[in-house]
Amino acid sequence: MTLTKIPRRIFLVGPMGSGKSSVGRELARRLGLTFIDADAELEARTGVSIPWIFDVEGEEGFRRREAALVDELTDRDDVVLATGGGVVETAANCDVLGARGVVVYLHAPVAVQLERTRGDRNRPLLQTEDPEGRLSALMERREPLYREVADVVVETTGGTARSVAERVVRALSNDPEGR
Ligand code: S3P
Repeated sequence: MTLTKIPRRIFLVGPMGSGKSSVGRELARRLGLTFIDADAELEARTGVSIPWIFDVEGEEGFRRREAALVDELTDRDDVVLATGGGVVETAANCDVLGARGVVVYLHAPVAVQLERTRGDRNRPLLQTEDPEGRLSALMERREPLYREVADVVVETTGGTARSVAERVVRALSNDPEGR
């Protein structure tokens, strides 16, 4: 398979538990690009956890920091960038993601998201009595936004991080945009 059309900026979007970080790492290794996880980068820079930011500054404060970081990180070359699940809630993020690289939507059904995030303490939006209801509500609101910003959609169920990364490579090779 020819990889001449593989882009040098790949942005992964999708819900919590869609595998953006694990697939992104594999994808970057496979393509010789640098992997960046926006949430991990935010934690490294601030020296505090995402839950801490939500606690102290609220979701609004987190979204402001997220947007500033997305603006900066989408301007780098030779990267695979894993974004947070709520990145599409800020219109400016969708604008820069769409304009500066190829956007891959990693899709996962709510049942799979739930399974993959079960017991996770690092996701403030899931610290609720009803994580399934929360994931469903978020998907209902965000799914159209993921689809709108994405150049390609890749299903993540029934695969390892490595095999899903391979699906992404295949999807990108067929992307008519060829960016
Ligand atoms: C969020 C998803 C998280 C993180 C934050 C908010 C969301 O990222 O950005 O907890 O709004 O869906 P992951 O999708 O990497 O879990």
